[in-house]
Amino acid sequence: MESSQRQNPGGALPPHPTLAQYYGHDADRPQFVRRLFDLAARDYDTIEGGMAMGSGRRYRREALRRAGLVAGMRVLDVAIGTGLVAREASRLAGDPRSVIGLDPSTGMLTEARRQLGVTGVLGVGEQLPIRAASIDFVSMGYALRHLADLGVAFREFFRVLRPGGIVCVLELTKPASRVGFAALRFYMRRIVPILTRLRTGNVEAEMLMRYFWDTVECCVPPERILAALDGAGFEDVRRTLAVGLFSEYTGRKPGPCRGPSHPPRTQDRDNFFARRMTR
Ligand SMILES: C[S@@+](CC[C@H](N)C(=O)[O-])C[C@H]1O[C@@H](n2cnc3c(N)ncnc32)[C@H](O)[C@@H]1O
Repeated sequence: MESSQRQNPGGALPPHPTLAQYYGHDADRPQFVRRLFDLAARDYDTIEGGMAMGSGRRYRREALRRAGLVAGMRVLDVAIGTGLVAREASRLAGDPRSVIGLDPSTGMLTEARRQLGVTGVLGVGEQLPIRAASIDFVSMGYALRHLADLGVAFREFFRVLRPGGIVCVLELTKPASRVGFAALRFYMRRIVPILTRLRTGNVEAEMLMRYFWDTVECCVPPERILAALDGAGFEDVRRTLAVGLFSEYTGRKPGPCRGPSHPPRTQDRDNFFARRMTR
């Protein structure tokens, strides 16, 4: 069966419940999110660098490498933002022209185009303006919480991938320990928004950081995300957790691995930093 025809057995899977204090109704959420990122775009890299909640360029590069991104692959980076994932994807793929970045925020896309020179496409992850079976590697960094329906988006990722293609979704996960959670919550709720305002003078950036934490705190658990990837048709679906906080969800579209140099997936090897989680 074509992936686009598969039914999500659990119905729609929004990443978190309605956060009415920000946007009232779910129908208004995409516009709220787009505006927030448009207005915070110029300060996004400063904020990200300051709080390290996307954990920086090096981590993103290592995560992509662990997932199996190698030279010669054609990459789609969903939710490119200012290009923090796409930049590392370009380095690993060996050519910025082999990376397409997609985002619904014109502010973020403008920054990405200015900084990187990759192809930038306006759009959302739930409806990709990309040909079926034309991509080797789909990445998405820290945007899962902004999707309307994980099942719909993952089926789109599946559709655009070639047989054997890889999906890699990076997302923050609440720490499992109560102490770790309380400490992070305090930092994210009380410290980061104020520091953001002081550093940037941008009230929208401050709001972005409040919204960021609230969506992390309310996000569906990893098991539901893994199940949604299974439901979209991916095989070899797994989660690798780095420093107890950064989840890397990966899967493969059934079919032969592409590319002469496709390596064994290095995340099979645990290391101190990144640990493959059992399901
Ligand atoms: C936190 S930024 C992440 C940017 C970048 N991937 C990174 O790692 O820094 C989230 C991005 O998701 C984008 N976004 C929001 N809703 C989206 C959707 N439905 N589909 C794709 N991208 C979306 C936002 O415009 C924003 O650029």
